[in-house]
Amino acid sequence: MKDKIEALRARFASELDDVKDQQKLEELRISFMSKKGALQDLMKELSAIPNEQKKEAGQLINSFKQEVNSRFEERKKELDELAEKVLIESTESYDESMPTESPCGSYHPITLVQRELEDIFESMGFDIEDYNEIVDDYNCFEALNIPKFHPARDMQDTYYLSTKNQLLKSHTSAAQNTIMRKYGEKLKKYGRPIRAVFPGRCFRNEAIDACHENTFFQMEGVMIDENISISNLIYFMKTMLSEVFERDVTVRLRPGFFPFVEPGFELDIQCLICGGAGCPSCKNSGWLELCPCGMIHPNVLKHGGINTEEEPFKYTGFAFGLGLTRLAMMKYGVKDIRVFNDGELDALDQFESK
Ligand code: FA5
Repeated sequence: MKDKIEALRARFASELDDVKDQQKLEELRISFMSKKGALQDLMKELSAIPNEQKKEAGQLINSFKQEVNSRFEERKKELDELAEKVLIESTESYDESMPTESPCGSYHPITLVQRELEDIFESMGFDIEDYNEIVDDYNCFEALNIPKFHPARDMQDTYYLSTKNQLLKSHTSAAQNTIMRKYGEKLKKYGRPIRAVFPGRCFRNEAIDACHENTFFQMEGVMIDENISISNLIYFMKTMLSEVFERDVTVRLRPGFFPFVEPGFELDIQCLICGGAGCPSCKNSGWLELCPCGMIHPNVLKHGGINTEEEPFKYTGFAFGLGLTRLAMMKYGVKDIRVFNDGELDALDQFESK
């Protein structure tokens, strides 16, 4: 077993080194970590091992499994960030030092993108909601199926206020519970679907670079009704992105993990530069990652007062969390996220609404 694990470890390391895009990473995940993958084969072999060696072999397999998982997650994070950087780099640039003659100021580029998105969603029957920046642990995490000490909290370290269990919201998903409670009664009483988007400022204890800020904007969306499926999710995302990028876009979903959705996805759009054929901008994969989303987890609906009865559940829904600041970077060709917060008026003055 030791030799087998060593051989697999070497194979995994070399294949991981060769992985240069998300497609290849997904293939590696399937070949090692899926139900028919190499790790599962090891588990099957465990049953054939003599009892006295089983404990040691089991421990070896488990620690190898943890190693594979954590190296996979590390590489996934690197590739996700790279894909986003490539998308931003591929947009047309602008001259941030160009003086403007506007004496009366202008809207901030993030406000422009936010308003454009609000118009699009409003035209599709969505309510536009506002939400607090200071929230509590329950709304930001627990109501979203992220209990205390859940490892998913590490991805969203934020700023805690010293009193009253308050914190600065790390994602707009923190508003989901309030929205469900606000509109849930009308859904149950009159069958009015919940359709809402809620843009907002988010905060994370984050090392700042050209793509990461500790203060940035997201736009969350939820839709809940009877018979809502992944097809509805795809339809709304596709329509919204086609409007934003002013052309028809092709989208695809890949698996993605967030405790508050099941199944969860990363939504990619087909590269707008090469049309999917493969080019340097999309690292030859033909796809660019844009928006995490998924079907709302039953526990989250329950926390929101929906589906309080036993299974089969009456209502289903989808949610998505669009990175508004990064979308503004892509739309306007801003290559450094810090431009948005540094108050340099020449840089911020030159964007116009459609
Ligand atoms: C979330 O925040 C989830 N709440 C999104 C979600 C909602 C998933 C609903 C499923 C259902 P994530 O941490 O990946 O996921 O952030 C979402 C987007 O916010 C990212 O794709 C990125 O565009 C943006 N973002 C995250 N961190 C930063 C940062 N430090 N600076 C700028 N933008 C960021």
